[in-house]
Amino acid sequence: MKNKTVIVTGGAGFIGSNIIEGLNKHGIDNIIVVDNLKNAAKFKNIADLHIIDFIDKHDFIQEILTNPNKFKQIDAVFHEGACSDTMEHNGHYMMKNNFEYSKNLFIHCQTHHIPFLYASSAAVYGNETQFKEEKAYEKTLNIYGYSKLLFDDYIRYHLKHRKITSQVAGFRYFNVYGPRECHKGKMASVAYHHYLQYAKDEKVKLFGEHAGYTAGTHTRDFIYVGDIIDVKLKFWQNKLASGIYNLGTGKAEPFNNIAVSMVNEYRKDQGKSTVNLEELVKLNILEYINFPQSLHGKYQSYTQANLDNLRTVVQHDFLNVAHGVEKYYTWLKQNYVRFAE
Ligand SMILES: NC(=O)c1ccc[n+]([C@@H]2O[C@H](COP(=O)([O-])OP(=O)(O)OC[C@H]3O[C@@H](n4cnc5c(N)ncnc54)[C@H](O)[C@@H]3O)[C@@H](O)[C@H]2O)c1
Repeated sequence: MKNKTVIVTGGAGFIGSNIIEGLNKHGIDNIIVVDNLKNAAKFKNIADLHIIDFIDKHDFIQEILTNPNKFKQIDAVFHEGACSDTMEHNGHYMMKNNFEYSKNLFIHCQTHHIPFLYASSAAVYGNETQFKEEKAYEKTLNIYGYSKLLFDDYIRYHLKHRKITSQVAGFRYFNVYGPRECHKGKMASVAYHHYLQYAKDEKVKLFGEHAGYTAGTHTRDFIYVGDIIDVKLKFWQNKLASGIYNLGTGKAEPFNNIAVSMVNEYRKDQGKSTVNLEELVKLNILEYINFPQSLHGKYQSYTQANLDNLRTVVQHDFLNVAHGVEKYYTWLKQNYVRFAE
């Protein structure tokens, strides 16, 4: 593994920087990061990691199109780079940056027999209640989800009708949380927001009742970022595994569980007793706010990954919310100042 050279797009972002950290732990330091540091704060995500080069995303794709031989001796491309803002309305930008960019990179990888492991999203399912990697369940609600879905379809076409020359694996991440997401602002996980909210005034907030779900019971498949990295690195060891795979824990939990877990981690440190959900509400620590008008019709009230497809390739024990938040809290306590301020 040690002498391998790997490209990580979106490497200065949340999941990309965790992939780099995971690769470093496996002795791989020859990493080329492709990203954009317009939001300069993201440099903190890579400053403590071993990489050998940083290339701006626009320069990189130009190089690939005009001078492809420069990047042909590569052992894998982890393509995490994308506009990850589900509220972005600029469809032109979204399709250029997410869809077209991914196509060009995929073609490059196929031309040079490079394993290509890319990020898709559970956003492709929209408000479906079943989450299987099949067309019948894919009803995305926004242009972000569409940019991901169209690329998955493009890959499916190639997997079905063309002979692929190297591994191609797409991963539909569910709700990811964990270290190195401080730059994401409003798009950061609820676990992160609860950490900040409790630190500020010992209160946390969740959406109130909406679409038949009572306050705090909207339910998602929350996955700790470390699990994403472990699964992807295992996949890369299995070069015959190509396809599109859900990547969540397979067990949905309500947002209330995030609040209970994060508040109790904090309270343990404060020497306070742990509290259950009922007490959290009674003590006014957990406040339910009106469901925002702007999210009506655009919100996934429930997601839960069907892992049948993934389990044909890897076995993995995923952390539940209580354990994932415990781990994340420990990291935040030690690293928040360095990464976020
Ligand atoms: N975080 C989640 O819960 C989640 C869920 C589903 C899917 N995803 C997907 O996972 C990937 C990583 O997401 P994240 O949470 O780390 O987001 P992030 O915003 O922290 O990181 C994405 C990074 O990609 C960069 N980027 C944007 N377009 C690029 C391009 N064309 N080429 C190279 N770099 C580009 C951005 O500058 C950013 O640094 C994205 O593809 C996202 O759509 C994330």
